[in-house]
Amino acid sequence: MAKSKQKHGNGKSNLAAAADKFACYQKSVQTPDHEVEFFEQAFRDANRRKPYTLREDFCGTFAVCCEWVKSHPRRTSLGVDLCDETLDWGRQHNLSKLSESQQQRVRLLSQDVRKRNRPQVDILAAQNFSFWIFKKRSEVIEYFKVARSNLKPDGIMVMDMMGGGECYEEDLVDKRTIVKGKKGFKYHWKQASFNPVTAEARFSISFKFADGSKLRNAFEYDWRFWTIPEVREMLAEAGFRESHVYWESESEDESDDEYGEWYRADDASSDPSWICYIVALK
Ligand SMILES: C[S@@+](CC[C@H](N)C(=O)[O-])C[C@H]1O[C@@H](n2cnc3c(N)ncnc32)[C@H](O)[C@@H]1O
Repeated sequence: MAKSKQKHGNGKSNLAAAADKFACYQKSVQTPDHEVEFFEQAFRDANRRKPYTLREDFCGTFAVCCEWVKSHPRRTSLGVDLCDETLDWGRQHNLSKLSESQQQRVRLLSQDVRKRNRPQVDILAAQNFSFWIFKKRSEVIEYFKVARSNLKPDGIMVMDMMGGGECYEEDLVDKRTIVKGKKGFKYHWKQASFNPVTAEARFSISFKFADGSKLRNAFEYDWRFWTIPEVREMLAEAGFRESHVYWESESEDESDDEYGEWYRADDASSDPSWICYIVALK
């Protein structure tokens, strides 16, 4: 929620106190247009028809749901999240920016993702490593079974994954400037801890502003660090007939922050820090 600008002991206003953590989050980590483009590619690779219905599990402020309905006048989306504060922020700041007809094609459910809902959808997305909140195999498999049942017979499930040697280093902070200038801010992704015995890992997101003030640990995550083969095995156990890994082709220009092309891969180079997608076919 946007906070009003506060004065502090030194009489100066503090940019962090005035900042909106959800707005900073969206600017820093989400690229909904890129997600929609990838969903279209993955669905095209699996099926010969166009996808129209999307379910975004762990949708947060459901920016992807909004982008989806903008991408085609027949498209509908369903966002599912159990945090009402986050959903409300999305209603105020994302849904409100859509046209009336687009708004009518977005449905939101404040509930646990491990619930069967109808109608079934073409694409179910679980983005930003959100299912890593489930730390036991049995919990992930239960979730995948429900997700599978929420898909149409030719539906696909899309999730992103991260990894690489650097991901296991504790207290590593990845810093990026998101907005330059006096009103700008930086994004800090911190890998706070990694327990090699349980593969449990804690991460946090902080934002640092031009006046030096900080929104410390605006978002914190306590996850199990799952690997690609583990996830694919659990998908198979949950009944998915196939799964594919999509790796990113390397950009010629190293300073290029844009995503490259995504291609199905059976092997990849051991990058110290990578992100990929797993796509599972019902
Ligand atoms: C890492 S955020 C991801 C937000 C968004 N999908 C994105 O890509 O940025 C995880 C979200 O999952 C929600 N969440 C966690 N456990 C959940 C559950 N069991 N059912 C529904 N939502 C859940 C949280 O409220 C939070 O909004």
